[in-house]
Amino acid sequence: MLNVVIFGAPGSGKGTQSDLIIKEFGLDHISTGDVLRAEMKEGTELGKIANDYVAKGQLVPDELIIDMLAKVLDGKKGSKGVIFDGFPRTIPQAEALKKMLNERDMDVTLMINLHVEEDELINRLLERGKKSGRQDDNIDTIKSRLEIYHSKTAPLAEYYIKEGKHHAIKGVGTIEEIFERIKEKINIHL
Ligand code: AP5
Ligand code: MG
Repeated sequence: MLNVVIFGAPGSGKGTQSDLIIKEFGLDHISTGDVLRAEMKEGTELGKIANDYVAKGQLVPDELIIDMLAKVLDGKKGSKGVIFDGFPRTIPQAEALKKMLNERDMDVTLMINLHVEEDELINRLLERGKKSGRQDDNIDTIKSRLEIYHSKTAPLAEYYIKEGKHHAIKGVGTIEEIFERIKEKINIHL
């Protein structure tokens, strides 16, 4: 099993690189942002609660996300491995992921941390916002997302450094160049 956590600020390219990793390595993809957007679109109970947080660029409470992830993970039984995109985002989420995987005789194989400077992140998200229809791709919400990323999510890098699983990647350049850098790191673990 190859379980990859893809990590980075909003707009760092987690979703873009996940698509390429899935094609190359035949992994399943779990993006908590995508799952939440689907729940919001369907108007489920979870979707209604999540909407207020996502619209403000805040994190959805850990218990809700962990519960949601456990259900999605159980739907991926028999998979070659999973790429976790946008999860974990807090220490309790990282601990819950470790527990969930250990209970299924698995673990996180590696964590890829995409580094992109703030101006570039903002430009990418504003550009995407012109056609994405994402309610959080506007300047005010982007700023909140970045603040929350720095205060609550970025410290998780330290957690994965301690676990010996952290790989920093320069997330600037062409999509293909960045993918080559990621592949080098994944290949070490195959
Ligand atoms: P989520 O959907 O995870 O959003 P995010 O982290 O803000 O990140 P994005 O999806 O915006 O960016 P990305 O890194 O995937 O970049 P992308 O590849 O799209 O979360 C949304 C919200 O849901 C959160 O704010 C929170 O409220 C909630 N949530 C989700 N997970 C949660 C959790 N675990 N706990 C609590 N709450 C949670 O690229 C961005 C743009 O740049 C694209 O247009 C792309 O084409 C372009 N691009 C990509 N690579 C390049 C490149 N190399 N050069 C130029 N442009 C590029
Ligand atoms: Mg994404």
